[in-house]
Amino acid sequence: MLVLGIESSCDETGAALISDTEGLLADALHTQIDMHRAYGGVVPELASRDHIRRVVALTDEVLEKAGKTRRDITAIAVTEGPGLAGALLAGNAVAHAMGFALGIPVVGVHHLEGHLLAARLAKPAPEFPFLALLVSGGHTQILRVESFGSYELLGETLDDAAGEAFDKTAQLLGLPYPGGPAVSALADKGTPGAIELARPMIHAPNLMMSFSGLKTSVLTAVTNALDPKDEAFRANLARGFVDALVDVLAAKLVRAIKMTRLNHVVVAGGVSANRQLRERLTQEVERRRGKIYFPPMRLCTDNGAMIAAAGIARLESMTAAEREALVDKLAFG
Ligand code: KG4
Ligand code: ZN
Repeated sequence: MLVLGIESSCDETGAALISDTEGLLADALHTQIDMHRAYGGVVPELASRDHIRRVVALTDEVLEKAGKTRRDITAIAVTEGPGLAGALLAGNAVAHAMGFALGIPVVGVHHLEGHLLAARLAKPAPEFPFLALLVSGGHTQILRVESFGSYELLGETLDDAAGEAFDKTAQLLGLPYPGGPAVSALADKGTPGAIELARPMIHAPNLMMSFSGLKTSVLTAVTNALDPKDEAFRANLARGFVDALVDVLAAKLVRAIKMTRLNHVVVAGGVSANRQLRERLTQEVERRRGKIYFPPMRLCTDNGAMIAAAGIARLESMTAAEREALVDKLAFG
């Protein structure tokens, strides 16, 4: 099986080729970050138009890198949601047209399932069952993953996602979009404990989280500062923010380990690229004699490889007749 994965849910166009025997053969990514930076965030219409421009070219690029042609592709996996409607449409239109033309199945992949299964591209790959902490721009969830396709939501944020908190904090600190990497780098220059921020719901006896209060404490600190542009102040505030957020995520993950007695953990989604979070969670899990897995660094944020990985897992779990029905669906709906 040779599966083409296509991602176009937000501001990254990704394509990748994965084989059932050889694993990930090639992947290519175009990020729209520079285009959206001037606006401080993603502009949906610009995003859709750019995906339309890139998606076929990226598909050709991965085929060339892998030394394959379109006729070698046996199935296509495409992000079907959640995401920006127009952006998703761009990837889906190409995937469905290509699938129809080639007479091959097209599977829709849930974006978060893609993030989760990106960890299976790590070496060594995690074995089921495991606990998952999904931390992206739009979601923050703790899941029990029993097997492929069997996910139990154990807890999630009641308001802002962790990535959103990073991005909003970046805006308040005058840092460029996307905020995560910039806030993280500034935090490295700050002094731990110089500014202590709220750790919302850290002691709540469950796995629910809340990050909007943390953002408000950043806003209050900036508003009350004598000189909000002072370098040391900005660095200390970034440090206070990262430490508070990491503390909450670590506490909730430890609680989840105790509740489920699962100590194999996958951390995925854009914020799993965060070094401070990786270090802290690794410490916590290893202290409990567990194992922690992250997707390869470049596959933490949105990409086509994670969609191809989730797609191939789905296709492998289907019968030949079910795969054939997907081909018919392209023609007859
Ligand atoms: O998973 P992702 O690429 O897109 C969504 O599905 O949302 O996550 C994007 C989020 C953004 O909020 C971005 O600021 C955050 O991931 N992010 C980071 C880092 N790299 C990306 N946050 C903290 N540290 C990073 N190094
Ligand atoms: Zn994502």
